[in-house]
Amino acid sequence: MKDFLINQRLSGPFVLDTQAPQIRSNSSPAPAIAGLRAIALAVVVLVAVVGSLLAVRWLEPMDPYAASVLELAGNRDRGQAIFLENCAGCHGAEALGAVGPRLVGVSERRSSEQIIEQVVSGRTPPMPQFQPAPQDMADLLTYLKQL
Ligand code: HEC
Repeated sequence: MKDFLINQRLSGPFVLDTQAPQIRSNSSPAPAIAGLRAIALAVVVLVAVVGSLLAVRWLEPMDPYAASVLELAGNRDRGQAIFLENCAGCHGAEALGAVGPRLVGVSERRSSEQIIEQVVSGRTPPMPQFQPAPQDMADLLTYLKQL
């Protein structure tokens, strides 16, 4: 009878009950470890968020208009003519600046895409929004890049 009781304890639900507190104590670690885990988790989340933001930027397809402009070979002299007609009034015939900023060396501080964006976006009044045909924009860009 005694043996039977012991057997029942080892194999019955009572054995599981005695293990339960151990499992619980494993899942709630000391506060210091919990703090480290929280920091590690925060770092992982931060890296994931920043990483995905960068990935979105890298993977972002180039604006189709800009892409079509950049595929074309530009003609500097045509570009200069377009500049004198449309841009010189504000930026100066020599692009030294007037109402608009000096554009000499603009390609050192702006990428080709940014220059195209500047010309077609109209986002910085008083500079108007231009809608040049891709070839005209390519010519203009070639001119601007050698300033
Ligand atoms: C009505 C005046 C005006 C005309 C016309 C104009 N711009 Fe501008 N442009 C500006 C002004 C003002 C800014 C500065 C905008 C700002 O950043 O707030 C500017 C900025 C720029 C910039 C950015 C310069 C930099 O250092 O980041 C570029 C590039 C540019 N213009 C190119 C052109 C081109 C090319 C044309 C002709 C197709 C043109 N602009 C016509 C007034 C003008």
